[in-house]
Amino acid sequence: MLPEIKKNVPLASLTTLGVGGEAEYFTVAKSEGDLVLLVNFAKENNLTITVLGGGSNVIVKDEGVNGLLIKNEIKGISGEILVTAGAGEEWDDFVQYTVDKGWWGLENLSGIPGTVGATPIQNVGAYGAEVSNVIDNVKVYSTQEEQFKNLTAAECLFGYRDSLFKSEAGQGLIVVSVTYRLNEKANPALHYKDLVNVFGTSAQPSQQDIRQAVIEIRSKKFPNWRELGTAGSFFKNPIISSDHFARLIESYPELPGFTETDGRVKVSLGWILDKVCNLKGVKQGNVGTYLGQSLVLVNYGNATAKEIISFSDDVIKVVKEKTDIQIEREPVLI
Ligand code: EPU
Repeated sequence: MLPEIKKNVPLASLTTLGVGGEAEYFTVAKSEGDLVLLVNFAKENNLTITVLGGGSNVIVKDEGVNGLLIKNEIKGISGEILVTAGAGEEWDDFVQYTVDKGWWGLENLSGIPGTVGATPIQNVGAYGAEVSNVIDNVKVYSTQEEQFKNLTAAECLFGYRDSLFKSEAGQGLIVVSVTYRLNEKANPALHYKDLVNVFGTSAQPSQQDIRQAVIEIRSKKFPNWRELGTAGSFFKNPIISSDHFARLIESYPELPGFTETDGRVKVSLGWILDKVCNLKGVKQGNVGTYLGQSLVLVNYGNATAKEIISFSDDVIKVVKEKTDIQIEREPVLI
């Protein structure tokens, strides 16, 4: 049976940033069967399809979303070590589940808001781990081909906060479930600076210790989105040429930079916003950068999407003027 479809449903409260208008048509898919029926319905009625997960990495436009918005609530967890989770599972509950089972690989990605389905889309990463390192395959429904497909990790074209699903070619693909290849053997990744600060270089913490440490670190850098609207890091860390980095280092010797395999350098934009642009904890109307982490934009209440975009455009301009770096927004505008 076709799930209920409602008209003019406000979306702000379904996102962690808490801005934006209504969905013209809104529905919830709780199973693969629901999804097939809803995609057919949208096609028959010429409605564009937008999929929403936990809403933690999206900015809803003030005009709202035309067509059919499908909230993906497909659940279910199966498998041992090679474990599959439905796209609609709450990410952090799933991480806790794997930690309880003693399957290593996701503990550094603790405390991240959103759902399982979003993790391959933006290739979620934090504290020295990237989800693409443990994704075995992703099951999708192709709206064009009208069939389910399993994509291998290689086919997902993972990059830094990037994947096939963010590209033009991936637009008709709806993530249904994700299979992670975890590790029975202890495999702690403790090289990220914030974790070295907690554990030093010789400790052998348990998975639960790592999870707790990450949650603790995050609580200082990110606001509680239930109290203060946020979409996590609002910009990607830019990747610049080694020449460009060398020029910046002359003026800012402490600028953190990490050399990529292709020789380019990923620089810490949070550091630039804070130390170069003096933009930590600034506020403009209802929008600002968070005091604990300047890469995080916050909605101080009642902000509009327009205000958020306009503030972020100002930040983009200042960074360009001060460093000649063109930065990119991270959350997706729908
Ligand atoms: N820094 C400052 N001032 C600031 C913010 C940062 O000096 O206001 C410095 C820090 O001291 C550190 C460096 O900049 O030396 C990097 O900061 P941090 O470790 O907090 O990480 P980040 O690069 O700002 C990235 C991810 C986060 C992820 C953290 C931890 C991106 C866009 N962001 O942030 O991911 O949680 O690393 O691994 O890559 C997200 O994508 O939404 C996200 C939250």
